[in-house]
Amino acid sequence: MTRVICLASGKGGVGKTTLASNLALALNDFNKRVLIIDTNLTTPNLGFHMGIPLYPKTFHDLLRGEAYPEEATYIHPSGVNIMPAGISLSDLKKTDPKNMDNVILDLVGDHDIILLDGAAGLGNEGLAGIKAADEVLIVTNPELPAVTDALKTVKIAEEMGTHILGVALNKHRNQPSELSISEVEALMGYPVISIIPEEKFMQESLAAKTPLVSYRPNINTSHEIKKLAGNLIGVDYQPPVQARASGLFSKIFSFLK
Ligand SMILES: Nc1ncnc2c1ncn2[C@@H]1O[C@H](COP(=O)(O)OP(=O)(O)OP(=O)(O)O)[C@@H](O)[C@H]1O
Ligand SMILES: [Mg+2]
Repeated sequence: MTRVICLASGKGGVGKTTLASNLALALNDFNKRVLIIDTNLTTPNLGFHMGIPLYPKTFHDLLRGEAYPEEATYIHPSGVNIMPAGISLSDLKKTDPKNMDNVILDLVGDHDIILLDGAAGLGNEGLAGIKAADEVLIVTNPELPAVTDALKTVKIAEEMGTHILGVALNKHRNQPSELSISEVEALMGYPVISIIPEEKFMQESLAAKTPLVSYRPNINTSHEIKKLAGNLIGVDYQPPVQARASGLFSKIFSFLK
């Protein structure tokens, strides 16, 4: 049975596309057949994260009934299926997201997991992604504006009856100025199921158009994302012993410095 999971946040820029593209690759490594769709119709950029160059047909065309799903689906070298959105202004103006749930329902069956890279905000397109999904992964940052907007998203998902998987707390810096994990959980009313550090290699991986789990597979942040992917499918991912040892080594080393 296909699971449709939307990454939603309310606030923009918290890391939905980054996490969605990384989770897609990590789930693919767990032998899941994954389709990732850019449901961010107004400011899409999944194609840039995944290194999909020019694409003649897109999710916009599919929503307008002007393409078949196969025409708007691209296969990443990893094996992940990607449905990017159109980046032209005319795509934006001509396309209505209201059909999104039915269009996505038609894609169910060929994939184990369909990940929806959600739009920022809670306008029509943001809501359409949540409505089209069975499950929502809330992505947020440990700061009040992000958590407040994430809470609105939670309330809307609850009203729609969409199951909430929990909170992925991204760009965590472990600073006293940040909201603590327990504060985030208390405010949101859902558990933080993943803590993903603010990662210096993230910009490099974006520039390389290669999600971090593939660009730097052995760093701690990549292991955290793989753990989250495992969590989503009930697999207890353990980083390789060498990676754990080198993580410990670098902690001791930085402590001695
Ligand atoms: N863990 C992280 N560490 C450092 N930078 C990150 C991390 N996660 C995301 N970023 C960076 O934050 C920026 C915004 O990320 P991203 O585009 O994934 O957010 P988004 O929620 O999809 O934004 P939008 O709401 O506009 O769609 C990007 O430059 C990305 O590289
Ligand atoms: Mg995005």
